[in-house]
This record gives sequence, structure tokens and C-alpha cells, in this order.
Amino acid sequence: MQTIKMRSKNQTELLSEIRSLTQYGRIVPYDFCGDTKLFINDARLTNWMLSNTEKRANAFTPVIEKVTGQGLLTNRDLELWKNRRLTIQRLLAPSNIAQYEKRLIQRTQLVYKDWNQGQRVGMKEVVNDLTLDNLASAVIGGDFGDFRNNIKTTLALMVESMDDAVSKIVNEEKLEKLDHFVSLLESYVATISEQKSESPSEKEYIIDALLRAKKTSKKEFVDPWVRDEIITLMMAGFDTTSFLIGIAIFHVSQNQEIKDRLTAEVREAEKNPQNSFIESTPYLRMITSEALRMYPSAPFIGRFAHESKEIDGFVIEKDTDMMMSPWVTQMDEEYFPDPFVFNPERFSPDNRENIVKGSYFPFSMGPRICPGNHFAMQEAAIAIGLICAHVDFEYELEQPKIDCPVTLRFADPLFAKVAKIE
Ligand code: HEM
Repeated sequence: MQTIKMRSKNQTELLSEIRSLTQYGRIVPYDFCGDTKLFINDARLTNWMLSNTEKRANAFTPVIEKVTGQGLLTNRDLELWKNRRLTIQRLLAPSNIAQYEKRLIQRTQLVYKDWNQGQRVGMKEVVNDLTLDNLASAVIGGDFGDFRNNIKTTLALMVESMDDAVSKIVNEEKLEKLDHFVSLLESYVATISEQKSESPSEKEYIIDALLRAKKTSKKEFVDPWVRDEIITLMMAGFDTTSFLIGIAIFHVSQNQEIKDRLTAEVREAEKNPQNSFIESTPYLRMITSEALRMYPSAPFIGRFAHESKEIDGFVIEKDTDMMMSPWVTQMDEEYFPDPFVFNPERFSPDNRENIVKGSYFPFSMGPRICPGNHFAMQEAAIAIGLICAHVDFEYELEQPKIDCPVTLRFADPLFAKVAKIE
């Protein structure tokens, strides 16, 4: 099979180019910045790959490790990872995160409470700050306060350095700056951990649960486990979710019919605050799923074959470096007709059942599926629902420009005028 040479020099360019691979078939070897990978755009194969193959180090792993150490994102020691993963997964399970709902609603209401008609707002900053506040609610049970800015800078530096690493660029100055910000994050987590150990919270937040697990210590929970996992959650849970919220609000604002139906559903749910907001707003969930279909915040998912495997007559050799992309497969018209139309109906209870397994995987699949998926859906739905039901926006751009140093993000501040607020 011919290897297709990509012209792209970085991941943002690759994002524009990668869909062109589909003209060569569903399984295509390609060369990007000197690395050859096997591109897979096939639901059945993707399903199998993500369930059965390994995550190994790649070009940018050393950069993430600088920041998240041996946290879940980068940990590849299977035994160690399994035990740590179980703990984090339990803390982010639907039954555990239901307790954050009221707080997330309050945080979102604070966003638009002081806006006035005619005001110009930078939506990128708004959703970034909200997402960090939401993360702080669950992780430390409080606020990151001014520390939000350090988290933003660390993530920005990490992501830029990861993009450099993929493009084989070494920028010592940037890496040194990254080290500096990582040390700030480390001392922040150490201070919070100390405070929590001295006077534990009444309620158990993620950091409290990790500190408790460490006390009843098994070997997998030794230092710097708490530091690694807390920083991992800050990095993995931040701009992925904030981009989802921002892009979904943008799309709902462009479509009056969707906005009206959503507003009616949210207003009804608000009349019964004793009920779970999330459970009372199924249409909102459909909208959030559709936004994730068109804009999967993590568009590239890599895996290695740990054994040779024949599947559907195709042989994947051991150690093959593979790439699966929800950005491509979720826009394939065989799986999702009229893929460029924003249509939440695809995710109605009836239609959802017909989605081909392996064609929709914004949170990946299999053992490494995103453990923050329920939390991300919960906080995104609350933010999208409340903001869209209470505010009308006029955006300055017809279509936001999107970058992808590693995950999707807005290339500009995404300014909008508050046209109406209730
Ligand atoms: C829209 C939001 C999000 C998207 C699209 C997303 C997507 C993903 C994807 C695709 C992976 C798998 C990467 C791979 O297999 O290589 C992943 C892993 C991960 N995500 Fe998320 N994520 C989101 C939000 C969150 C949140 C809110 C948290 C935590 C609060 C989180 C924590 C993690 C962690 C810890 C991992 C590593 C899991 C492991 O390898 O065991 N994510 N995410």
C-alpha cells in the first residue's frame, strides 16, 4: 500500500489535511513529519483497535510527562495504571459527580448574572474561566482563584511544546518556562494537600479522596501520585471541555429552532430545581453529543498494535503505529449522513441506537476511555443549557477559526455581543 506524504508541518495543518486521506480508502499509511502511521477510518476496526491495543510513548509523551508525571494520561505500567485508574474512575462516576450539579449550576449562573444588553464578551475567555472554576469545584471543593492563570499558562506551554515535539522542533526557552510553571503547580498542589491533611473538608472532594487512598497506602499510591493525578485532571479536563462548551453555544446561537426548543426545556427544568437538571434535559444532552460529533476536542487518538492481527482480511503487523480520528470518522457520511449539518436529532433515543459502534468515539473507547467523560458531559450540558436559555448572542465571526496544537481550540477570542439577556 502506498504511503501518503502529508504536507502539514504541524497538527493544526494536519487537522485540515487529514480528511483528504479518506479518498485513498479506510486504512491508509501516511507520513507526517517523518513518522509513518496507519490511518484507520473504519468503525469496526476502530472499535477493535481501541479495545485491544496499547497506548505507548510517542513523540510528545516526554513533554506531557514533564507536567503530569506518571498520572493516568501518560502512565503505561499496566498494573500500576489499573489500580490508579479504578480510583479516579470511581471518583468521576455518575453516582459520585451528581453531588456537584448544584455547584456547577451556580457557577454558570454567575457567568451571565452581570452581563448587560449590548455588552461585548470574549467567549473563549468566558468558557475557559468557567471550566477551570468547575474543575476546582470537583477537584479541591473550592476555587483556583488567581492560580487559574498559572494553570492556563502551563497548559498553553505544554500544548505548544507537544506540537513542537511532533514537528521535531526543540525550543529550550519554552521548555524551561514550562518547567518553571510546573514547579508553581507542584507547590500549589502541595500547599492544598497540606491544608486538606490538617483540616479535612466535610465533604470528600477528589483531592481528599486521593489523600485518603494514599494514607491507606498500597504501593501504587506513593508520592508523587496525588500531585501527578491532580495536575493530570487540570490538564486533561480543561480546554477539552471549554472548547466543547464554546462551540456548542456558538452553534445553538446560529439555529433559532434548536435554541427555542432548548430554551423551553431548560426553563421547564428550572421550575423544578429539586429534580436533577441533567436528567430533566434530554434534548440538551443530544445537543452536547452532536457538538462533540462535529468537534471532538481530542481529534487524534494513537495506539500501537502489540501483536499481529488479521481483521476483515487486513493484516496489522505487530508494533504498527496507528491513528484513529473522531474528527474524520464522525464526519463520514456513511456513518452520519449530511455530516456538516448540526443536527441533535442524530442522538435522539431512537436514532442513537442506530449509531454504528466505533463510528462515534469523542472520548475514545475501551480501557483507556476518558474517565472524565461523565463530568465533561455534565458540566458542558449545564453551561450550554443555561447560557443559551438566558442569553442571545451576535457573534462577530460567521465561523470561528479553529487551531489544533494538540486538542481543538479557538484561534481567536470569539467576541460576541450580548443581544438579549433574561
Ligand atoms: C469534552 C471533554 C473531553 C474530551 C473530548 C476528552 C477526550 C479524551 C480522550 C479522547 C481520551 C483518550 C486519549 C487516548 O486514548 O489516547 C481522554 C483521556 C483522559 N481524560 Fe478526557 N476528555 C474530556 C474531558 C475530560 C475531563 C473533564 C477530565 C477530568 C476531569 C478528563 C480526564 C482524562 C484522563 C485522566 C484521561 C487519561 C485516561 C487514561 O489513559 O487512563 N477528560 N480524554
